[in-house]
Amino acid sequence: MSTQNKITRKTTADIKKMKVSGEKITVLTAYDYAMSSILDECNIDIILVGDSLGNVVLGYDTTLPVTMEDMLHHTKAVSRAAKNALIVADMPFLSYQVSTKEAFSNAGRFLKEADAQAIKLEGGRDFAEIVRKITSSGIPVMAHLGLTPQSIHQIGGYKVQGKKDEDAHRIIEDAKILEQAGAFSIVLECVPEALASEVTKSISIPTIGIGAGVHCDGQVLVINDLLGMSERFTPKFVKKYANLNSEIKKAVKNYIGEVKNGNFPDSEHSFK
Ligand code: KIV
Repeated sequence: MSTQNKITRKTTADIKKMKVSGEKITVLTAYDYAMSSILDECNIDIILVGDSLGNVVLGYDTTLPVTMEDMLHHTKAVSRAAKNALIVADMPFLSYQVSTKEAFSNAGRFLKEADAQAIKLEGGRDFAEIVRKITSSGIPVMAHLGLTPQSIHQIGGYKVQGKKDEDAHRIIEDAKILEQAGAFSIVLECVPEALASEVTKSISIPTIGIGAGVHCDGQVLVINDLLGMSERFTPKFVKKYANLNSEIKKAVKNYIGEVKNGNFPDSEHSFK
């Protein structure tokens, strides 16, 4: 019997080592096979199948309507393409908040059915028990603090978190509690740069920032934002590395024009 190790993707242990060596961790979201292949070929460290799926792919205003079935469907597609990157799947709203038992069995579905290697969930100390149960059963957990979009109606809008001393202190303590509970990394979303730096120094697991400044151990962006896919408002922390919205429109208008005027298909694209 062959004992050859079939795991070619990065592991959570590899990601944790990057904090120690000081190599920055790169994370991007993907929701389908085509984008996952491209990110994987670029050697991204982690592909996150974010529940931002709800906003950027499914057209909802918030992430709240996203279901387990939506997330599993898209995680399967992303996983099929990834040979190098660690695949992390986001637990959607109400898939882990109701009971520890449900949280554990939903987390397990991402590994068992969708070939993810880890899950992500939002929340601080109130979720420590759930993180402990999931991680102690062998499922790696990425935590998520600061702006947690699944709590948008409680937070009252997409705004920077942890500006007041007491809120900042709570985020630092939450990070320590989640590390103790077994999380392998923590996303810090929309918090002041100095707070993210403080959290990063206070824990031994990597912090992954989005709108959290340069001192985090890694960075994550939503791929559609980075590529400039939408003309909608983009937050201050998003850097558009391309403007695919206008590139795609240019190509599509070109196609429409050539079909209308009979220039496509030409002989090069036709069979004799
Ligand atoms: O859902 C998502 O894409 C996320 C990232 C923005 C961290 O949670």
